[in-house]
Amino acid sequence: MTVPLVIVGCGGHGREILTIARAVNAAGGPPRWQVLGFVDDRPSEVNLKRVQQLDVPYLGGVAWLSGAPPETHHVIGIGDPRVRRAVAQRVDRYGVPAASLVHPDATLGPDLRHGPGLVAFAGARVTTNVTLGRHVHLNQNCTVGHDSVLADHVSVNPLAAVSGECRLDEGVLIGTTAAVLQGLRVGRDSTVGAGACVVRDVPEGVVVKGVPAR
Ligand SMILES: CC(C)(COP(=O)(O)OP(=O)(O)OC[C@H]1O[C@@H](n2cnc3c(N)ncnc32)[C@H](O)[C@@H]1OP(=O)(O)O)[C@@H](O)C(=O)NCCC(=O)NCCS
Repeated sequence: MTVPLVIVGCGGHGREILTIARAVNAAGGPPRWQVLGFVDDRPSEVNLKRVQQLDVPYLGGVAWLSGAPPETHHVIGIGDPRVRRAVAQRVDRYGVPAASLVHPDATLGPDLRHGPGLVAFAGARVTTNVTLGRHVHLNQNCTVGHDSVLADHVSVNPLAAVSGECRLDEGVLIGTTAAVLQGLRVGRDSTVGAGACVVRDVPEGVVVKGVPAR
């Protein structure tokens, strides 16, 4: 049975998520997702054109979801964890459930626990006994090691490596190609810059960068 799906956000991240839905549908068996279109409060002209090129309609602002057809699910196509959290809180009020999309070329451990809204891009690798909160986004070719916990709205960007037994608190962004060494904690709403190597715990609400990350 296909499930109607709306992608929130016409930007690059949202359009990449469309490609995941299409890859899932193409992977064999009956198509899983019927993408109704994109919603976005302030789409740029250029992004509207890009959405059109993908043959998917732009439906209107996020409030479109308040009157969505029954069974409709949503996925938040916004890469920034803090913006994603704000939009998720809004969409929750419309009572439209969040879908989880896992690219067929992602590998998730058999004992993974995750909340709604998970997006796993192609090449994302999650090993064993990992816990993911709501709306966690694992971008292309990132890795998450054993026994790690990633709280709500965490983003792990392409090629980043989160080692075993790490704890990433709510709203954390791990920049592309960054590494977090084993057993470390990154505090709520902190950002690890692209290419950084985290070698000690990171407090809440800070930006760290470089090798070692400071
Ligand atoms: C670290 C980061 C958050 C800083 O953003 P910012 O506060 O806007 O920083 P700015 O671009 O103003 O740069 C400030 C300084 O930090 C340096 N800098 C920026 N990003 C850096 C990084 N990843 N590593 C090392 N230094 C960095 C800049 O060169 C600049 O140095 P200067 O003051 O000597 O000129 C951001 O650059 C980053 O790495 N974000 C992750 C992006 C990502 O993963 N993108 C992939 C999307 S899929």
